[in-house]
Amino acid sequence: MKKLIVMLMVVAFVATAAVAMAQDKGPAVIKLTNKGTVTFNHTAHQAAATCDDCHKSTANHPADTAKCSSCHRKSDSKADKKAYKKAMHKNCIDCHKAANKKNGDKKAPTGCKKCHVK
Ligand code: HEC
Ligand code: HEC
Ligand code: HEC
Ligand code: HEC
Repeated sequence: MKKLIVMLMVVAFVATAAVAMAQDKGPAVIKLTNKGTVTFNHTAHQAAATCDDCHKSTANHPADTAKCSSCHRKSDSKADKKAYKKAMHKNCIDCHKAANKKNGDKKAPTGCKKCHVK
């Protein structure tokens, strides 16, 4: 019985923590400045995509919202799936191409200078 109560308490704690995490939506606009300035409208994207589309963009991703660069580092290896530039481009550009194709427009930028503004 005692064990069951402890287990229920753990479940309740984890559930509360999950709700608290889900409520941290992060900054409304994020400026990424490693190459020029990429101005990323986080809030607008949250309306058009799910958190998991970016924060859990592959099955192996942990379900958290840590900075991409905390795991994805600069890398010269073409085979390195964790390479920062590759991961960012795969996430942003793949969706933009698919969205433009689906909508028959060019609202989602795919050109270097449209994202990387000097
Ligand atoms: C849809 C937006 C988008 C497009 C289009 C795009 N990029 Fe990026 N790129 C990003 C984002 C976001 C990052 C991460 C930037 C940061 O952390 O400052 C990035 C990172 C990079 C980096 C690595 C910067 C670093 O030092 O970590 C390079 C180099 C780069 N892009 C070059 C290009 C080139 C060249 C093109 C065109 C062929 C291009 N990008 C198209 C969004 C884009
Ligand atoms: C279209 C992609 C995308 C979507 C959708 C998205 N995010 Fe983000 N989010 C990002 C990027 C990119 C960053 C910046 C990460 C970095 O600086 O490395 C970020 C940053 C964050 C941060 C700040 C992380 C930190 O430590 O600075 C939080 C919190 C966050 N997002 C939560 C959410 C939540 C909650 C949702 C869903 C309601 C969501 N995001 C939807 C791409 C996205
Ligand atoms: C806690 C660590 C961690 C964080 C944080 C993280 N990633 Fe990843 N990511 C990984 C690992 C590990 C892989 C390689 C394994 C796999 O394919 O799932 C990966 C792979 C990827 C891939 C697939 C690359 C390919 O070539 O198939 C994309 C896209 C990606 N991450 C985007 C992101 C974006 C965007 C963010 C931030 C919003 C982010 N990741 C944050 C660990 C992380
Ligand atoms: C899940 C799909 C998806 C992902 C992932 C995504 N985008 Fe977008 N993005 C869109 C769509 C759709 C539009 C066009 C919105 C419209 O109709 O105006 C857009 C528009 C934009 C625009 C132009 C409008 C504006 O907000 O200024 C920029 C810049 C942009 N995205 C940057 C990024 C960057 C940088 C990333 C990666 C960190 C990213 N996007 C990831 C779907 C996505």
